[in-house]
Formats: sequence, C-alpha cells, structure tokens
Amino acid sequence: MFQRRILCGIQPSNVPHIGNYLGAIKKWIDLQNSGDNLIVMLADLHAVTIPREPDALRKSTLETAASLIACGIDPKRSIIYRQSDLHHHTQLSWLLGTLTTVQKVGHIPTYKSKVKDETSIPLGLFLYPILQTADILLFKTTHLPIGEDQIPHLQLCTYMIEKFYHYYKQNIFPVPQMMATETTRIRSLRHPEQKMSKSDYEERSRIDIMDDEKMIQERVMKALTDFNAQVSYNREQRPGVSNLIDIYAGITSQSIESIVNEAQQNNHNTGQFKKRLAEIIVEHFRSKRLEYLKLMNDRTYLLNILDDGRKRAKEIADKTLNEVKHIMGF
Ligand code: ADP
Ligand code: NA
Repeated sequence: MFQRRILCGIQPSNVPHIGNYLGAIKKWIDLQNSGDNLIVMLADLHAVTIPREPDALRKSTLETAASLIACGIDPKRSIIYRQSDLHHHTQLSWLLGTLTTVQKVGHIPTYKSKVKDETSIPLGLFLYPILQTADILLFKTTHLPIGEDQIPHLQLCTYMIEKFYHYYKQNIFPVPQMMATETTRIRSLRHPEQKMSKSDYEERSRIDIMDDEKMIQERVMKALTDFNAQVSYNREQRPGVSNLIDIYAGITSQSIESIVNEAQQNNHNTGQFKKRLAEIIVEHFRSKRLEYLKLMNDRTYLLNILDDGRKRAKEIADKTLNEVKHIMGF
C-alpha cells in the first residue's frame, strides 16, 4: 500500500493569475486544510522549456512562492520547494526516459498542437512529459489535482510505470489517480475565446492575484464584453460577460443563477457589474496581498522556507532514486 500523497505543480514563470487561483491553488489549500499531504512544486525546470530571462525567472519564482504561502499554503503542513533544487528530477527523468519511445511521446496532443508548423522543435518541449513523469514518480504520488488537458500526460506516466514493471518486475510506483479539479476554465479578459494564461502576451488579459487595487479595477473594467449591456450567462454566445460571472462565482462560491438574478434585481448593467466584481476581487485578496508584501520584504525568511521544503522533499526523493538505481543495476 502506498501512502496517500498529492503533488501540485505550478510553473513559476509569473505571479499566479486568478485562473490559477480558482482552478488550482484554492483547491490545493482546501485539500491541505482537510488534512492531505501536499507537495507543492515550483516547476522552474519546466518553466525553461522555452528560454527565460534569468533575473525574471529568479524573481517570479520567489513571487510565486510568496503568493502561494500568502493564499494559505502552510509550509509547516505542506512541502513547498523549487524543482531545480533537487537534481533527482532530471536524473530520474533520464532513467525513466529509457522506458518509452520517441513515437509514444511525439503522439501527445499538447505536444503535437504546439509543434504543428515548427521546423525547429525545442528538445525541452519534447521531453517535458518525461520530466513530468519523473516529478510524479519521484514522490510516489498517489493523487494528482490536474485538469482534463493533462490526461495524455498521465497516460504516458502510467505506460512508463507498466514498462518499469515489465522490465524489472518490481512494483514500486502507485498509478496516480487524477483528482477532479475541473472547474470552469477562466478565460482571457481581452480574448475570452481562449483561456487565461501566464503565457498570454497581453498582460491586460489577466488578473494576477497580487495586483494592487487600481490594477484590478482597471483590468476588470477593460475586460472585453459585447454590445448587450444586460448581465446574462451564456458561455458560447456571451463569452466575455459569462467569464466575469464565472470569476464572481469562483470567488464568492455563489451560484451563477443567483449572481445573474441579483444583478438583474439591482438593475445592474455590465459596467456596474464589473465595478462590483472588481470590489469583490480586491476584498478577497486584500489581506492575502498584505501577507504577500510582507513575505516579499523578508527574502531570508522566504528562502528559508524553500530550503526547508527542499530538505523534506529530498528525504523522499533520495529514497526513490536510490531504489530505482538499485533496481536498474547501478
Ligand atoms: P498557465 O497556463 O497560466 O501557465 P500552469 O500551466 O502553470 O498555468 O497551471 C497551473 C495550474 O493552474 C494548473 O492546475 C492549471 O490547470 C490551472 N490553470 C491554468 N490556467 C487556468 C485557467 N485559465 N482557469 C482555470 N485553471 C487554470
Ligand atoms: Na501552462
């Protein structure tokens, strides 16, 4: 039997946005607070799949750590650490990579869609799912809070566990289960037909959770809606306003229906609704933001937390890596 263990990963390529918060971070915190063992990995090795500006990466890694802690990841209960602080990930990635084929990895849809018309494909992009499998297996992860888009990666991971068993006749890895974290995808404020993402080139498309009051107001007010000034919900026909309602629902845990009813009863048009939404977001993150600023002003404290996380993660990682190496004949 394997101990229940949950791995949560986030690329620290930017301060998390409200999509990351509602779709992932908020749920991680709920799991943590109901007693689960969480490993929160700042996936900085994944962040350099596409080359990053070094100082920007260093900065955003700390900002991400501070954001997560400010939102409620408790470093005493959960392990929070930087992926690049453990050489184990890349080493296990090499060892496990020998268990699959170029064809198998090349068939992953997220990869295929990214490299569609490219003539020079970054090798890191190709190897990404192998490293991800290593991340998962390094901790003998039993549960993964991930979205539907990650299913092909999970399938590759499962395939590699089977191959490991096939070659070495040792059953040392649990097959990780996906935890349904699927909520409504929060979409880009300026391009509501696509998801809100850190990699969105247009910054106004996001609300970063540590944005100040003015910034939040500005971005909400400038979110793209349509010619209809009424507040109503229809994700296909009215993606812009529906996305704002989704954010409202995510923050307040109110139902879509009651939000729409309330707006209509108050005779709120989309402009007034945006104002109200901005207030709600600002209010929700007010104390979290203060905590964030405090953490960002105490670099030593923050680095100590990450170092403590590294040590605790290393204890688990050492065991797995030694075990795998021994089994494979080293
Ligand atoms: P990004 O696409 O912004 O770089 P990541 O790939 O680092 O985000 O994802 C971190 C977590 O946030 C994942 O669990 C992912 O499912 C979730 N997530 C990312 N974008 C959104 C979104 N727009 N709506 C809901 N959840 C999201
Ligand atoms: Na991403």
